[in-house]
Amino acid sequence: MLTGDLVRLRAFEPSDAELIWRWNNDPEVGRWMFGGYPESAAQIARRFEELPRNSYAGTFLGIEPLDAPRLIGSVRLRDAAPETGAAELDLRIGDKDYWGRGYATDTMRVICRYGFEDMRLYRIALTVVADNVPARRVYEKVGFVEEGRRRECFRRGGKWHDMIIMGLLEGELR
Ligand SMILES: CC(C)(COP(=O)(O)OP(=O)(O)OC[C@H]1O[C@@H](n2cnc3c(N)ncnc32)[C@H](O)[C@@H]1OP(=O)(O)O)[C@@H](O)C(=O)NCCC(=O)NCCS
Repeated sequence: MLTGDLVRLRAFEPSDAELIWRWNNDPEVGRWMFGGYPESAAQIARRFEELPRNSYAGTFLGIEPLDAPRLIGSVRLRDAAPETGAAELDLRIGDKDYWGRGYATDTMRVICRYGFEDMRLYRIALTVVADNVPARRVYEKVGFVEEGRRRECFRRGGKWHDMIIMGLLEGELR
């Protein structure tokens, strides 16, 4: 388990599937995320029975508050490549009761430290919808910088939104 000041990050269990299904179907949680095609609770449960082992190529972890053994979100480092030392990151705090309390910021510090120190990554990148102000604030707080903008590539509410590409290099984590 990876531990920060507020959170611990742990591997997923099959029993987590139900919460994932709920968050996938919460429009507020999914407001600025690609939802993909709908998955039934049974399909998610099957997927969670057979999740691949965490590895260099893909590490998918559940977020728990240190003071309560409950799942509040997920974070993923994916597509790591030894040739470039680079990986992509996805983050979601699905339990809205925990928004605005520093849990995403602490999670980012823990997973990025793990990426740089244990996985020997050199670079972590992510994309975020330009209008997702809280997420951009979290990423900037821990040291991510804007590296580019993909114009009008995210459709929500009958409108196109830009996406920002952000990156963090080893030594830049705050
Ligand atoms: C975006 C998200 C990760 C933020 O998680 P969180 O645990 O609430 O984040 P934190 O509490 O660590 O920090 C939020 C920061 O955004 C700021 N913030 C929140 N709402 C804001 C707003 N409307 N305008 C400006 N700043 C805002 C907070 O003040 C805080 O910054 P501060 O510490 O400087 O005060 C979480 O809401 C989430 O997972 N949402 C759904 C999925 C998602 O959008 N994921 C990101 C995809 S790229």
